[in-house]
Amino acid sequence: MARVLVTGGSSGIGRATVNRLVRAGHLVIATSRSKQEEVTNVEWYPLDLDKRESVEAFCGSPLWDHRVDVVFNNAGFGLTAPIESASETAIRTQFEANYFATMKITQKAMAHFREQGRGILMINTSIGGRMAFPYFGYYNATKHALEASYEALWYECLESNIRIKIIEPGFTQTRFATHGMRVSGETSPHHAQALSKLAHSMRTGTTATPPDEVAKTIVEALFDPRNRLRYNAGKYSGVLLLLRRVLPNRWFQRLVAKAVLGGKKSL
Ligand SMILES: NC(=O)c1ccc[n+]([C@@H]2O[C@H](COP(=O)([O-])OP(=O)(O)OC[C@H]3O[C@@H](n4cnc5c(N)ncnc54)[C@H](OP(=O)(O)O)[C@@H]3O)[C@@H](O)[C@H]2O)c1
Repeated sequence: MARVLVTGGSSGIGRATVNRLVRAGHLVIATSRSKQEEVTNVEWYPLDLDKRESVEAFCGSPLWDHRVDVVFNNAGFGLTAPIESASETAIRTQFEANYFATMKITQKAMAHFREQGRGILMINTSIGGRMAFPYFGYYNATKHALEASYEALWYECLESNIRIKIIEPGFTQTRFATHGMRVSGETSPHHAQALSKLAHSMRTGTTATPPDEVAKTIVEALFDPRNRLRYNAGKYSGVLLLLRRVLPNRWFQRLVAKAVLGGKKSL
């Protein structure tokens, strides 16, 4: 039985992971910005990645006085905005939460694991950590930054009993596009269309995967004894990541443009 911390455990991928971990007999510490109903074997802690004082209080909280075997950095939100007109505040807020606050928790977990002599640390990036989509560029940039940091960390932990893992889900049927998303900048018809396509796909599951399927891969990856860095989860994620690797850039960009923007674009 492991003691597992899941940030953003109140909904979507995090919630499904919490449920699976509890069913497997683990003790879970989960975070949320709002008060959550009690669940057996789940201890809730407040954490708001937007607020530096909340992140600092979380890093100093009593949960770290005991063994923590696994940390799954999952909490995050998406900013949708044209690159050219997003406000500086919106961009900084996106980086503050998804990157800086998450890395602060990463450093706390690493210090804890070094002292303990072992641990498993996973970040939830996205396929958008390895490619970019129109109007999601700043969100994608935070996930690229996390990918780079965790890849570097993987090397830095080779001589230890600390395992570093990255999960790259494809589109998943969560509240991400409908509740969590923040919008900034001038909206154009293309932007509005990209947003409504995403929301539709997440509602209907045309291209999105139920969160429990993603959580199944996450739990398997967390306890995978191999020192493997990257895992993908959900339908199309493996295919998209493969196409990104093998297709010439121009072909891949054409594919994304057609899927997100539709119509005939001059490429
Ligand atoms: N859905 C997708 O298609 C998809 C694909 C790839 C990767 N991801 C990643 O998966 C992770 C979880 O997203 P999801 O799809 O499960 O969305 P979700 O249903 O909106 O869940 C997001 C979770 O993160 C927490 N959260 C959001 N913003 C936060 C903030 N500023 N401070 C603290 N906690 C915050 C929420 O907790 P509270 O609201 O209770 O505080 C919630 O538990 C994110 O990192 C996202 O980038 C999602």
